[in-house]
Amino acid sequence: MIWNYRVRPVLFLALLTAATIPAVADSVKIGLIGEFSGPFQAYGRNIENGMRTYLKMHGDTYGGRKIEIIARDTTGPAPEVAKRLAQELLTGDKVDFLAGFGLTPNAMAVAPLATEAKVPMIVMNAATSSITTKSPYVARFSFTLPQMTAPMADWAVKNGIKQVYTLVADYGPGIDSENAFKKAFTAGGGEVVGSVRTPLANPDFAPFLQRIKDATPQAVFMFLPAGEQGIAFMKAFRERGLDAAGIKLIATGDLTDDDVLMAMGDPTLGLVTTHAYSAAHDSPENKAFVAAYREVSGGKRPNFMAVGGFDGMAAIAQVIEQLHGNLDGDKAMEILKGMKLMSPRGPIWIDPETRDIVQTVYVRRVQKVGGELFNVEFDQFKNVKDPGK
Ligand code: DHB
Repeated sequence: MIWNYRVRPVLFLALLTAATIPAVADSVKIGLIGEFSGPFQAYGRNIENGMRTYLKMHGDTYGGRKIEIIARDTTGPAPEVAKRLAQELLTGDKVDFLAGFGLTPNAMAVAPLATEAKVPMIVMNAATSSITTKSPYVARFSFTLPQMTAPMADWAVKNGIKQVYTLVADYGPGIDSENAFKKAFTAGGGEVVGSVRTPLANPDFAPFLQRIKDATPQAVFMFLPAGEQGIAFMKAFRERGLDAAGIKLIATGDLTDDDVLMAMGDPTLGLVTTHAYSAAHDSPENKAFVAAYREVSGGKRPNFMAVGGFDGMAAIAQVIEQLHGNLDGDKAMEILKGMKLMSPRGPIWIDPETRDIVQTVYVRRVQKVGGELFNVEFDQFKNVKDPGK
């Protein structure tokens, strides 16, 4: 290079600039894999709105880096699509985190890719117990079905329900809840008189409910993936006359999901369910969350998937902050293990042994509050782990 009077000042200035002004850092990229179309399309929207509510309330820059969400649609339970999307996000977009996952089959399919890429995978809904064992890079901020189901079984036996027929969706979370219910219910002295599993795609509940009605159990315990299926189930439960025959209904709170509770209407009044989150949860954290969520979502109330998105985003923000923006998958996992947060649902923490969530499980009853249907909490089990772990 020729050192002359023209380039020297320029070079000097360039060196000075590089030394004193930090380069504008790239954004932190979060690959959000969710269900944004098809029969489960509400899952992706609720999770993303939950994540965006966190950014709205607490800002979008951590450790000096702005957060960028790159959302991709699995179109439903589609493991091959989820896998392809994860591959594109990891190798093309070079995301720093994978997040989302409404449905178990999509989370299961992506877990090995998180391991390969050493990228943390933040599960915000999918609730089959074994998901966290599929990769050391998984941390779950939602719940597990056994975690919600065992307290429901305990509550049922203590409240005079002794004979139950179970109906569950025939895939991971359904099978987990059937097993967890049987175990806890029989341990408490109850009897499961029959069990049926319904297909995940396009189920017609009428024939199953007829069979259950003919068996005249005292109650039905059910798990179906939240949303449209719950609406269809409630309709068939009434049309087949199970409620008129005095058969009680108990379930995890997936049935009385805040997103569809108003659409199910008054037939849900009095239903008792167990879950980790209700939009009616009475705490300052939840009041602030509900208000901000309404602004982000165009007036909707949050459900348990929204709170999973919110808490998962809170965890990601903490990781970025603690690493001062210098992201590393293994260091991120060390921060996630044992992380404690005050969630809108109450206190939560990530068990460092399992990377699964420990939290309060609430017993709730559907009631009208201010003319709207809500899951009103009336009892609770504190510090509940996934019982299989
Ligand atoms: C899943 C679990 C749920 O609790 C739910 O409501 C919907 C889907 C799942 O893991 O696929």
